[in-house]
Amino acid sequence: MGDTFLHTELCDMLGIRYPILQAGMGGNAIRGAVSNPELAAAVSEAGGLGVLGGAPWSVEEFAHSVKVLKSLTSKPVGVNLVFPGGDAIAGGSAQALAAKIPQEYKEFTRDILGELKVEEAERKPEPPHLYLTREVSLRKLEIVLEEKVSVLVYSLGDPGPEVIDAAHQAGITVIALAGTVRQAVRLKAEGVDAVVAVGYEAGGHSGYIGTLALTPQVVDAVRPLPALAGGGISDGRGLVAALALGAAGVWVGTRFMLSHESATVPWMKQLALDATDTSTVKSKFVSGKPNRHLRSPWDDAWEEAARKPLPIPLQGLLFWDYFASVTEARAYEVSGETMGQGVGLINEIRPAKQILEDMVAEAAEVYKELGGRFTAG
Ligand SMILES: Cc1cc2nc3c(=O)[nH]c(=O)nc-3n(C[C@H](O)[C@H](O)[C@H](O)COP(=O)(O)O)c2cc1C
Repeated sequence: MGDTFLHTELCDMLGIRYPILQAGMGGNAIRGAVSNPELAAAVSEAGGLGVLGGAPWSVEEFAHSVKVLKSLTSKPVGVNLVFPGGDAIAGGSAQALAAKIPQEYKEFTRDILGELKVEEAERKPEPPHLYLTREVSLRKLEIVLEEKVSVLVYSLGDPGPEVIDAAHQAGITVIALAGTVRQAVRLKAEGVDAVVAVGYEAGGHSGYIGTLALTPQVVDAVRPLPALAGGGISDGRGLVAALALGAAGVWVGTRFMLSHESATVPWMKQLALDATDTSTVKSKFVSGKPNRHLRSPWDDAWEEAARKPLPIPLQGLLFWDYFASVTEARAYEVSGETMGQGVGLINEIRPAKQILEDMVAEAAEVYKELGGRFTAG
């Protein structure tokens, strides 16, 4: 059987062969983005849409990464930016932001490290959280417009209709992530071209509604716009299930994190290979917004103390002190890596092209098998 059953309106909209989008992944690479130019290019070359994780870079690093990505493929590619809204704190230097963190929160971090018998690292890599601000994202957007990247995918907040208009004027397709039907409806009204329903299972930031429940509700709410499903989709079975729910495509992160190309360092990949269905937790303690990652003593201590997390990016900066210290001490198992519940399905690191091709081949088998199972008579 061919793979034509996988062809959806999303493929036509984006000019891609398969309705598989590799999710934008920032954090977790120590420096730079998990979905780096090499991963995004490999996915686009294989017929999906690769998406650069644009959030954790400085503006200069981001500009360079977009150029590298465009030099690696002439196929359509995407870029993910975040636009933290709500109570997010405006940007500033590391020192200025650190000054906004209450002393008792800093002491609490030291106490957790003390319990673990880990010394606070003296020199830490620059925290990616410095760049999780609306103003930095707006500067990156100018680069996206100039470079005419095919697709802008945004998450964690709302850039406003003027950003969507500017992207459209530059011929860029705009996709946005939603964790609730309400958000999806608002995004549609603002003029996005497609919406990703990101379920509770997802690695990184998402809402609290499971992919199975959220996807068909978002599909119905944004029609005739295409909706995609994200969260917990790691193989061909997940792909077919998403299509059965009415999704026009899938948004896959954790599976592509465990690829040869991703910038995730080897010990993080090993932690993910060892992880099971119960290894992750969703908490606000690593960034200030609900985020799924490996459960660690960090989560336990915050939960037990019933402490209110600080807003973006302050909580992330605080977590960075913990993360940088435990990783320097090689206490990797308590590092609280970002990944989704689907990680329990993944037991091999593969090239991105193979991941995509395996997903397509498995989807074809599942589709055929299901057809046979339900044949009348
Ligand atoms: C390591 C990692 C880093 C992520 N970083 C970002 C990010 O920077 N911006 C963003 O919008 N989503 C980020 N996400 C969430 C993904 O875009 C996507 O919604 C999620 O991975 C989908 O669920 P899955 O991991 O179960 O496939 C990240 C996810 C992972 C696993």
